Amino acid sequence: MPPRRGRGPAMEKAKDFKGTIRKVIKYIGRYKIGVIAVMVCAAASAVFHIVSPKILGKATTSLSEGLMAKITGTGGIDFGYIGKILLIVLALYLFSFLFSLVQSLVMSSITQKLCYRLRKDITEKIDRMPLKYFESKTNGEVLSRITNDVDTFGNGFNQSVTQLITSVTTMIGVVIMMLTISPLMTLITLLILPVSVAFIGAVMKKSQKYFKQQQEYLGHINGQVEENYAGHLVVKAFGKENDVIDQFDKTNDVLYGSAWKSQFLSGLMMPVMQFVGNLGYVGVAISGAFLAVNGTIEIGDILAFITYVRNFTQPMQQIAQVTNMMQSMAAAAERVFEFIEEEEEDQITENAVSAENISGVVDFTHVSFGYSPDKIVIKDFNAHVDQGKQIAIVGPTGAGKTTMVKLLMRFYDVNGGEIKLDGHGLKEYNRSELRSAFGMVLQDTWLFKGSIMENIRYGRLEASDEEVIAAAKSAHADHFIRTLPGGYDFELNEDATNVSAGQRQLLTIARAILADRPVLILDEATSSVDTRTEHRIQRAMDNLMRGRTSFVIAHRLSTIRNADMILVMKDGDIIEQGSHDDLMAKQGFYAELYNAQFA
Ligand SMILES: Nc1ncnc2c1ncn2[C@@H]1O[C@H](COP(=O)(O)OP(=O)(O)OP(=O)(O)O)[C@@H](O)[C@H]1O
Ligand SMILES: [Mg+2]
Repeated sequence: MPPRRGRGPAMEKAKDFKGTIRKVIKYIGRYKIGVIAVMVCAAASAVFHIVSPKILGKATTSLSEGLMAKITGTGGIDFGYIGKILLIVLALYLFSFLFSLVQSLVMSSITQKLCYRLRKDITEKIDRMPLKYFESKTNGEVLSRITNDVDTFGNGFNQSVTQLITSVTTMIGVVIMMLTISPLMTLITLLILPVSVAFIGAVMKKSQKYFKQQQEYLGHINGQVEENYAGHLVVKAFGKENDVIDQFDKTNDVLYGSAWKSQFLSGLMMPVMQFVGNLGYVGVAISGAFLAVNGTIEIGDILAFITYVRNFTQPMQQIAQVTNMMQSMAAAAERVFEFIEEEEEDQITENAVSAENISGVVDFTHVSFGYSPDKIVIKDFNAHVDQGKQIAIVGPTGAGKTTMVKLLMRFYDVNGGEIKLDGHGLKEYNRSELRSAFGMVLQDTWLFKGSIMENIRYGRLEASDEEVIAAAKSAHADHFIRTLPGGYDFELNEDATNVSAGQRQLLTIARAILADRPVLILDEATSSVDTRTEHRIQRAMDNLMRGRTSFVIAHRLSTIRNADMILVMKDGDIIEQGSHDDLMAKQGFYAELYNAQFA
């Protein structure tokens, strides 16, 4: 199987960082006050934290001076003064703690509200997206936007806002405090700054490469495991187990190599930073001792200063981390916003025609359509369908039968010509109302994870249990449902693979019967059920179709013999039309198809 592009978003960079950040800011607009409160709290917490060492230094000075005085016999330790200072410091730390508590409370709530809203926006958006979009993307890609990307964005947002404010405030505050103690010692400390920055930069640049590779291969591994897991039947059936394992081993090797390198390098950061920091200590200690001997600095200030030096390198590392985090946050946010800004189907039409009481007269005039403009599938389709008639569409595989049905339900818009329902162009109806005029059973069965009862009731949500069961009976599904464990409460799995293909079709037919819509569309509705059951369903369907316009697509031509009109399609055009007897008499393409089946 071809390797698939990884979904791992972490180290990816946003294509338009500034633009994305601007969008993020706009999106969080309604939480502006909260975010400002968070910033103020984070800054306040940092400030209270920063001033404490200097004040604590006063206590140390007083203590040491008191001790000296006691030794020389000129006085004693001023415990009252020291106690007062300790109380003040305690209060400062308490304030710092309280502010950071409030900050993280508010921030978590904002982040979760933001994620909630994003998920909601994306989900609602999905319902408004044209089918075209989903055909060009894998399910995983769309889903990972709701889960991974929103999560990455939320976490990144939460941490980066808080850390950025705290780190910057701490850095500035620390420098100010250091300057108030000793400009000379501050200068010496700041000299180690370029060394640290250069070092962090070098390590980050080097590890970035491996991080990227690690993320990429993590994505490959995920993809491979997912594919092999989902496709294990195919792998086993074709005896490809060893190939798959080889392929996996190769990817796993690369992942191993890049993962240990990136982790080693980022692990290297701490000890080396500490070493550089210790160099700073030595400088501070020497110059501090020198100044203390001169009497220009108090002993407590030296201690306070050393604490500040310790507090100085940490925010630098944090800022480096935050920039990284902001990159991945922006990349995730960009993907989310990209999706939210995708072109939608227009939902509402001005002065829309009401789709209630549709009688079901359908006109196709010169309809042409292609999934892509350069490959026209339907060339010039013309047909008039009277109310209550049963129309059969037949033709070889790939002729465009399903496509016509999709056009009728306006999953796609025609490129040329027009389709009219009850004399009004499809575009004159609101899209959802238009679709509620159709009951359909499509070639690909649409069932979801949930009980059989829920799946059938999806056709008409307000239907009672009895109505659901009656519909199942008409579709000849009741019998097989009762043999399942739990009967109507039997849970279908994700792709409903725990019932047979024919049974899936029976369930969708029951759903369409329950929905009871003016126009019926049956696209190969009974292609997977046995002929005996098919005949039985047909009798039920005949009842259902009586009086409503219905479009029936079938390969088994015996099932559509009684249709009022048969449209024979070939390469996107109708080449013959008429009743079964007319067409047989004509000895054309239809007769050829029919005879081929009964030869
Ligand atoms: N989503 C799509 N994107 C691009 N091309 C498509 C898409 N769906 C169908 N086609 C192409 O359009 C043509 C008509 O397809 P359609 O599904 O309408 O055939 P059909 O008559 O229903 O065939 P079958 O009997 O196999 O169901 C085919 O050539 C097919 O390859
Ligand atoms: Mg088809």
